[in-house]
Amino acid sequence: MSVSAASAPSVPSGPVRILGIDTSCDDTGVGIVELLPDGRVNLLANRVWSQTVHARYGGVMPELASREHVERIDEVMGDALREAGLNVTDIGAVAATSGPGLVGALLVGLMYGKGLAQALNVPFHAAHHLEGHIFAAASEAELRAPFLALVVSGGHTHLFDVPRDGEYVLVGATMDDAAGEAFDKIARLAGLGYPGGPAISEAATRGNPDAVPFKEPLQGQKTFNFSFSGLKTAALLAHRAGAAPEDLAASFQQAAVKVLVKTTTRAAHAHGRGTVVVSGGVAANAALREAFGATDLNVVFPGRGLNTDNGAMIALAGAAAIRAGRPASPLDGGATAYAPLANA
Ligand code: KG4
Ligand code: ZN
Repeated sequence: MSVSAASAPSVPSGPVRILGIDTSCDDTGVGIVELLPDGRVNLLANRVWSQTVHARYGGVMPELASREHVERIDEVMGDALREAGLNVTDIGAVAATSGPGLVGALLVGLMYGKGLAQALNVPFHAAHHLEGHIFAAASEAELRAPFLALVVSGGHTHLFDVPRDGEYVLVGATMDDAAGEAFDKIARLAGLGYPGGPAISEAATRGNPDAVPFKEPLQGQKTFNFSFSGLKTAALLAHRAGAAPEDLAASFQQAAVKVLVKTTTRAAHAHGRGTVVVSGGVAANAALREAFGATDLNVVFPGRGLNTDNGAMIALAGAAAIRAGRPASPLDGGATAYAPLANA
């Protein structure tokens, strides 16, 4: 799926309640936002069912994820409507993730969303998962281009320049593991549990960040790419040499945060962007937030509960699409496992 630039804006004349659905991986998320005629957006509900069935396998089992989405989605939508104090007939538009993600899992939310839109006779918007992550930050500040966006999650470490609303230019990406994946793998190595991000961040508060020396990845590069495999190997060697899990956590977190902040800041300066959105699961990391806060950039993070996968971010992306006057999506569009966001 590609996201095209805005056509002639046709902002609705009254408030529109948009219901967003994300079932791209192992979280069943439904959120509701309200788009006001002046373009402002209010978050009304955000409910996520995080599947625990995968824990015993040490990774997400796609078929089990799809089945659990089917079992839970009705209940999660009911909870979201109750949280918002709305009836289903108050919903004026539906957005659902169509990619990228696990196809079987995506299909559950996509078909549910299309069915709902058809039953309510309201517009349907197929949303890109990464555009959702970026627009999760619209819960905190009005998000208008131009800005730079760093999406750091379990599956992505992508840096986009957003010169105009709806236009995404990829300026850098990981060459191997995603940042969240590295947190997860190093946490497992150090016996800290899953998901690794929160576990590393908690253990790091008790460790010495200078105990394990990590070499900066891609030092001296002129591009804006990322690499985490070197940090992973260094962590493995330090673990074998007897490094304490807390020290390993603190030192790895410091190294990962440093490279994410340094490369993003360089890219923002190179592209003349003063505002940077940092989103995705890893954006929940307190050390990362603190380090970005110390830069000269205006950094916008998603609000509480909106960093990791959720439906509200898809509702927020839907609101941005409606505000920009993008046409509704056809109801015969499919789900896509691989779907680059950048259209340039
Ligand atoms: O965005 P997300 O829910 O799923 C993907 O689309 O991938 O991100 C999940 C990732 C996991 O790798 C998890 O370990 C990481 O986000 N994560 C964190 C933190 N909370 C979640 N990483 C670092 N620090 C955290 N506090
Ligand atoms: Zn995600």
